Amino acid sequence: MHLRFPKAWELPESAATPESAYRNRRAILKTLGFGAAALALAPRGVRATTAGFPTRVNPDYRDPALTPTSYEHITSYINFYEFGTDKASPKINANKGWKTEPWTVEIAGLINNPLKIDANDLVAKMGGAEQRVYRLRCVEAWSMVVPWDGFPLAKLIKLADPKPEAKFVTFSTFNPVGAPGYAGPALDWPYLEGLRLDEAMHDLSFIATGIYGKPIPNQNGAPLRLVVPWKYGFKYGKSIVKIDFVAKQPVNTWQAMQAREYGFYANVNPNVDHPRWTQASERVIGAGGPFGTRQKTLMFNGYEAQVAALYKGMDLRKNY
Ligand code: MTE
Repeated sequence: MHLRFPKAWELPESAATPESAYRNRRAILKTLGFGAAALALAPRGVRATTAGFPTRVNPDYRDPALTPTSYEHITSYINFYEFGTDKASPKINANKGWKTEPWTVEIAGLINNPLKIDANDLVAKMGGAEQRVYRLRCVEAWSMVVPWDGFPLAKLIKLADPKPEAKFVTFSTFNPVGAPGYAGPALDWPYLEGLRLDEAMHDLSFIATGIYGKPIPNQNGAPLRLVVPWKYGFKYGKSIVKIDFVAKQPVNTWQAMQAREYGFYANVNPNVDHPRWTQASERVIGAGGPFGTRQKTLMFNGYEAQVAALYKGMDLRKNY
């Protein structure tokens, strides 16, 4: 992995960092300076019932230049069309009795080890959860920084043991029709996303089970959701019930809805605008008042050094 950050930020791998530690850290940094910060940051244990908690901080994925967005913003400003098409409704509707524990996920398709497994058992099989801080950039031109807890997708793929014919992986969200809080038809359900197998195997690809060291809230995609930080947020399929290994490039939900605007790759690219708005900059949620401040968007959302090789020789304008 090529994402080493300064040693001064390495924390004991005993627990996740809750939001209070991030907030304190900013105050401490201001008053004490950078070097003293690590000592002052010993994280506190986080209580939770779901498997894998407390999680371990992974210091390799903690960029001191990033300020995590507040827990309140991350868990309130939501895209989850199954529970409403505005930003505020999913937090209310996804908590009207929809149960995300217990939860079964099916791993199927062109693999040697197909299985159906409880989400908590899967986390345990993956060796528990770790915390990584990633940028999140939505195709709608807003962004956050999220401390995700979870496990590398590559671990799950190794467990599945793909056959040579498997070239892509799909991720299906549960079918919401009839679920408590379901907001009615908005997209073709179930919400489907996909990655090329080498993208899915990339070290940054992650299955999130928590945020800020707490089990992931329903509205953020409990109990398992995809995280691919160099891609637009619509690739991050939520509340996954099936992971399928296939030979052909799948058609993801947003591509099926409007192929001219949403592609399969969806790599963050400030040089290729959405047909209806610029992608050169983004609104930072939670910074500088209710509408956020604007900042420049980075190629591959700041992960160019890690992922550019995946797309060598490809026309990124055509493969948007
Ligand atoms: N997954 C499902 N099942 N349904 C959705 O509507 N929205 C996507 C993605 N995953 C979506 C989804 C979009 S557009 C984004 S930007 C992210 O989830 C938002 O994740 P967040 O609400 O946790 O920030």
